[in-house]
Amino acid sequence: TTAKMVVDKDHRIGEIDRRIYGSFIEHLGRAVYGGIYEPNHPHANESGFRTDVMELVKQLNVPIVRYPGGNFVSGYNWEDGVGPREQRSRRLELAWRTIETNQVGTNEFVDWARAVNSEVMMAVNLGTRGIDDARNLVEYCNHPQGSYWSDLRIAHGYQQPHRIKTWCLGNEMDGPWQIGHQTAEEYGRLAVEAAKVMKWVDPTIELVSCGSSNSSMPTFPQWEATSLEHTYDAVDYISLHQYYGNRSDDTPSYLAKSLDMDQFIRTVIATCDFVKAKKRSKKTLYLSFDEWNVWYHSNEADQQLEPWSVAPPQLEDVYNFEDALLVGSMLITLLKHADRVKIACMAQLVNVIAPIMTENGGRAWKQTIFYPYLHASLYGRGVSLQPIIASPKYDCAEFTDVPYLEATAVYNEAQEELTVFAVNRHLEEPLLLECDVRNFENYRVVEHLVLEHDDLKAVNTADEERVKPHADGTAELTEGIVHASLPQASWNVIRLR
Ligand code: AHR
Repeated sequence: TTAKMVVDKDHRIGEIDRRIYGSFIEHLGRAVYGGIYEPNHPHANESGFRTDVMELVKQLNVPIVRYPGGNFVSGYNWEDGVGPREQRSRRLELAWRTIETNQVGTNEFVDWARAVNSEVMMAVNLGTRGIDDARNLVEYCNHPQGSYWSDLRIAHGYQQPHRIKTWCLGNEMDGPWQIGHQTAEEYGRLAVEAAKVMKWVDPTIELVSCGSSNSSMPTFPQWEATSLEHTYDAVDYISLHQYYGNRSDDTPSYLAKSLDMDQFIRTVIATCDFVKAKKRSKKTLYLSFDEWNVWYHSNEADQQLEPWSVAPPQLEDVYNFEDALLVGSMLITLLKHADRVKIACMAQLVNVIAPIMTENGGRAWKQTIFYPYLHASLYGRGVSLQPIIASPKYDCAEFTDVPYLEATAVYNEAQEELTVFAVNRHLEEPLLLECDVRNFENYRVVEHLVLEHDDLKAVNTADEERVKPHADGTAELTEGIVHASLPQASWNVIRLR
């Protein structure tokens, strides 16, 4: 089976915003406590952060990390997490039914993000709180000095403002599970008023309006249309969230779920542009896909956990090889919308539905999904190109006309590099890729990385890394055409320079 692709350096979708390789740390499970922070760990630094975990995060080159939630934020009092640690209160955390010790809060997280060369994307609580605490938090974080909240930050040991640029106006406010769930109308009104005063405190910030929690929400896409009627002029982005799973063990359908993600993005763009037209606005709204991943392996185990413990092992999906293939296709889908998707966060980063796992007191290791994320983050910077693709297709239970080849290309002009990212969805046969790279004269294949495994359910553990990439791919460039055999069920990164 052959698939053809044409890539031209003049056929551009747009500049890739580095923030599409963002991630997410929520006060949930062992993401913070036992994940990024474990003061008694042998690798902890003087601030209590695990340096072994920091090294893995740095490898991924994560430009932005959303914080502190998630569902958590809708019940969070940010004041509980600042000031002297010994005075911080233990709270019932109602979203995930745990005890929150507040030993890590805003300032510590800002320190951690800085140490891993990342920036913070901060969410405010529009569930139990609202306009007042939102504007106070912006003042605490970003105002230089000479006001109650900025001076309190200084008293807490942070002379310089944190200068947090990107702020989420609540989290999944369309979801009945959310603390303080609202209708689109209610949310739109609250969000625009919060946005207004947050920008009065700091006009340089950018704001994200809550979109739907997933594409199957009964209120999608009316939620976007109604809430944006209120927030459109006051915000810069609208959020999208989506998780997939292979609950029915139907891999052909599972691997095609990135098509649903693509349709979701298209619908949100259309809805933003509908509101733009209605408002006769000149402003274009951008998308923040600030939660995306596979999430389903841990659902049953989570039902068995007793409530009200500190940092229980929640949402600890152990990812297998086929999950890495879908994650690869989701990354390709984000790249194909680089003109409108400016922020995206793999949810999450450590232990909780995460590429990085840890043992309390012990080792840290890479899950299968670490690798496509790593490759895209390292080599997917520059201009997203618009490929022309002709691929054989298949039908499955959930989709028709699914291309076996999911692929795209990124041109890094500064480094003079072209990278083709490609997933072969065929479970039995290799796909022979012929990729015409017409005007990339004098380029050579520098590397063809492949993630493949004969067991779709293979997983990595602290003891054994069964799923990891190799560089023995077959890609060759002759007369302007890259020829590569993409193994059955594989993720491929073909780098040319
Ligand atoms: O990432 C896990 C949870 O998924 C988040 O807290 C919530 O926003 C979403 O439903």
